[in-house]
Amino acid sequence: MPQPQHDYAAILQVILRQYQLPPKGDHGVEHWARVWTNGHVVGEKTGADLEVVSLFALFHDACRRNEYRDPGHGQRGGELAHQLRGKHVHLDDQRFELLYEACRLHTDGLTIGDPTLLACWDADRLDLGRVGITPDPDRLGSAPARELISWAHHRAITGHAPAEILQLWSTP
Ligand SMILES: [Fe+2]
Ligand SMILES: [Fe+2]
Repeated sequence: MPQPQHDYAAILQVILRQYQLPPKGDHGVEHWARVWTNGHVVGEKTGADLEVVSLFALFHDACRRNEYRDPGHGQRGGELAHQLRGKHVHLDDQRFELLYEACRLHTDGLTIGDPTLLACWDADRLDLGRVGITPDPDRLGSAPARELISWAHHRAITGHAPAEILQLWSTP
């Protein structure tokens, strides 16, 4: 299936204009970039929709209001993506629904579902090391994600900044 192209740099600019927390904070841009990479590595093996995974990485924490417990932040991220539909976000209804649900439910601990949803959620969980949590294999939704734990966890705890993704996003 051909993937529509998105202007990720433009999307990031829109997101950062309204982002209320430090861009370099625990839930900021470098976390989003590691989630992107984790999601692509997992999703390539599970057949996930990688365009949806890419947009999830950018939107899922875009509307956080604090770095701690912030109920509803996933849904707010999905709503922001909805507002940008047709201008910056180009997905048909079915694929947009996946993006919206991936954002809305990403903190609910679900481990069963569509491969695209699972790749999104696992990508986020694989980066928990940045806040001192080691990912639990039983809380991941796919075998490829479980195989990625030690690699992804190392990047999480060392605060790895994926240069190729940040470049793709034209991050200053
Ligand atoms: Fe989140
Ligand atoms: Fe996150």
